Amino acid sequence: MSATETPAWTALRAHHARIADTTLRDLFAADPTRGDRLTAEAAGLFLDYSKNRITGETIALLLALAGERDVAARRDAMFAGERINTSENRAVLHVALRAPRCATILCDGHNVVPDVHAVLDRMADFARRIRTGAWIGQTGKPIRTIVNIGIGGSYLGPEMAWRALRPYTDRACTLRFVANVDGADFTESVQGLDPAETLFIVCSKTFTTQETMANAASARAWLVAALGEQAVAKHFVAVSTNAEGVARFGIDPENMFGFWDWVGGRYSMDSAIGLSTMLAIGPENFTDLLAGFHAMDEHFRTAPPDKNLPLLLGLLTIWYTNFFDAQSIGVMPYATALARFPAYLQQLQMESNGKHVDLAGRIVNYNTGPIIWGEPGTDGQHSFFQLLHQGTRLVPCDLIGFLKPLSPLAHHHTLLMANLFAQAEALAFGKTAEELTAEGSNPAQTPFRVAQGNRPTNMILAESLTPFTLGSLVALYEHSVFTQAAIWGINAFDQWGVELGKVLAQRIVPELTKDSPLTHDSSTNALIRRYRAANTT
Ligand code: F6P
Repeated sequence: MSATETPAWTALRAHHARIADTTLRDLFAADPTRGDRLTAEAAGLFLDYSKNRITGETIALLLALAGERDVAARRDAMFAGERINTSENRAVLHVALRAPRCATILCDGHNVVPDVHAVLDRMADFARRIRTGAWIGQTGKPIRTIVNIGIGGSYLGPEMAWRALRPYTDRACTLRFVANVDGADFTESVQGLDPAETLFIVCSKTFTTQETMANAASARAWLVAALGEQAVAKHFVAVSTNAEGVARFGIDPENMFGFWDWVGGRYSMDSAIGLSTMLAIGPENFTDLLAGFHAMDEHFRTAPPDKNLPLLLGLLTIWYTNFFDAQSIGVMPYATALARFPAYLQQLQMESNGKHVDLAGRIVNYNTGPIIWGEPGTDGQHSFFQLLHQGTRLVPCDLIGFLKPLSPLAHHHTLLMANLFAQAEALAFGKTAEELTAEGSNPAQTPFRVAQGNRPTNMILAESLTPFTLGSLVALYEHSVFTQAAIWGINAFDQWGVELGKVLAQRIVPELTKDSPLTHDSSTNALIRRYRAANTT
């Protein structure tokens, strides 16, 4: 049965028709306790979802929908290691990556937790050797710069985490990231580096990704030109599921950290893909990061539905996407440290839920994953927030903040948090013409100054941005994505859509350098000819 055929969906449609015109002003006026009531808290995160266009009945119906779509059973199937990634016939067990040593999580009858901890132990040993200077480069110097080569899930999580957790990092050791196949990315990333003090981590689940393989080859050439072929052993390590590919590249299997096909790329920042994170923040802080993930996993698995943060967040996404026809969701972290969090979430959400067929391969007749975008506050307030406040589109937003400052400049934090709370207030309640008139607004300007309000937000607060909180926050969104996919009946764990472009690019590569006949459409042919003309000497 399709999601839209369930009784709860039908009831939600009727309910939406009834309350679509009810404003947040109305809802707050009718219930002075709303701001205290519509909240939930777990794993170090507090969610205030009171500024959503919902009533108690909305939540009850959304929870009924979750029941009718078997979200709990699907969740349990994931935790039990069932092959819920049906199009690739794989289990989905990123939750095992952060399970405590004593846990048992079976995949095909095999407990994967000891395997996970064996890799974590090797990573910790390696990280300690790098951080203490016990690992010596080819010329006897310790490593000072780590360059992570990888793209997508092999890049976005590590970079996001490194920026988020800078106060926890060893400042004597610098991290750089190379992702794009644009040679400028590699060239700029190694600017000023001493090869003798540089370690490359080649991160690729498949070890076949064009961008990563090109960047890894350039890195190898850069290093070998300076230090000779034998330096590769001391200056390259790999993170992959493809041991053969790693060996073929010339990296000693001793210097490879593995993971498994049941870890999706966009769910891998807490696997060995997080090696650069561990090098930066140290094994103990990495353990705290995993503990944060695990705390949210346990909350998602065991908390009652009406107090379950990921479930509520996922259901609210359904509410706006499918009943209000919202096209996008903004995520605004009020912390510069989380500047790359929206980019991280773009892959997590859009690669997972950007699907047009259901689990049976049938084209769905409802919208699935929304467009995710965002920038840190307060920066965004001075660019696109205008549209959020006075534009014609409904853009629900998640606003994320931290009660304690992340810098010694406490008075900046007061300003930052005042802005965060003010934006949520302004978006929800706006300003009417009457209020403006009462304040003495110039009548000619009044229509332009009216802010309609009624713009929904979720407020997510944590005490402080710590490794634990970051893990919990990421897991919150992972399970929200899971919830959405379960409601829509889609596979959140494959990504076939990215394949076509990759295949077509492989075909075009030789056509750009050789004068072969072109058999594309007229536009593509003309573009290739233009490129050839610009590059013939
Ligand atoms: O092209 C998409 C993708 O497959 C992502 O899902 C993945 O995170 C990324 O490419 C990188 O893949 P790999 O880790 O295999 O290099």
